[in-house]
Amino acid sequence: MELFSDPWNPDSLLECLGDVFLVIEVPGELVGYSISRIGGPEAELLSIGVTKKWRKMGVGGRLLEESIARLRENGAEDLFLEVRESNEVAILFYARNGFREVGKRIGYYRFPPENALVLIRKILPV
Ligand SMILES: CC(C)(COP(=O)(O)OP(=O)(O)OC[C@H]1O[C@@H](n2cnc3c(N)ncnc32)[C@H](O)[C@@H]1OP(=O)(O)O)[C@@H](O)C(=O)NCCC(=O)NCCS
Repeated sequence: MELFSDPWNPDSLLECLGDVFLVIEVPGELVGYSISRIGGPEAELLSIGVTKKWRKMGVGGRLLEESIARLRENGAEDLFLEVRESNEVAILFYARNGFREVGKRIGYYRFPPENALVLIRKILPV
C-alpha cells in the first residue's frame, strides 16, 4: 500500500514472471521494481515503483532504462503504458523519460475510479 491505492495481489504478480521483471534491493529492503510484458514489436510497462525513501535518486530512471534494454533485445520497438491521470509525479517521470500521450481510457482504474492516460515511447535500436 505504500506505492499504490489499488495494489496487485500475489497471483497477478506471479502471472507476469515470464516477462521482464526487475527488482532492486539492498539487504533486507526493497528499493524498487518494474514489470513489463512483450507482445511482438509492442511492449507494455505494467508496473514500476520505487519505495518512498529511495525516490528522486534516479532509481526509477535506471529501472526503466534496464527494462528497455531487455525489451529491445527481445525485439520490442514501442513501449506503452497506462497511468492514472492524477498521478502528476509519474506523468512528469514518464515525460522526462521520453514518453508522450497518445490517448485516454475512460474509467480504466478502480479504488478509486479514474481515467488512464495512455503513453508511448519508441524503443530505438542502439
Ligand atoms: C514514478 C516513480 C517510479 C519515479 O521513481 P524515481 O526513482 O523517484 O524517479 P527518478 O529519480 O528516476 O526521476 C527521474 C525524473 O522524473 C521526474 N520526477 C520524479 N519524481 C518527481 C517528483 N516527485 N516531482 C517532480 N518530478 C519528478 C523528474 O524529472 C526526475 O528527474 P530529475 O530528478 O532530474 O528532476 C516513483 O515516484 C514511484 O514509485 N511512484 C509511486 C508508484 C507510481 O506511481 N508508479 C507509476 C505508476 S504508472
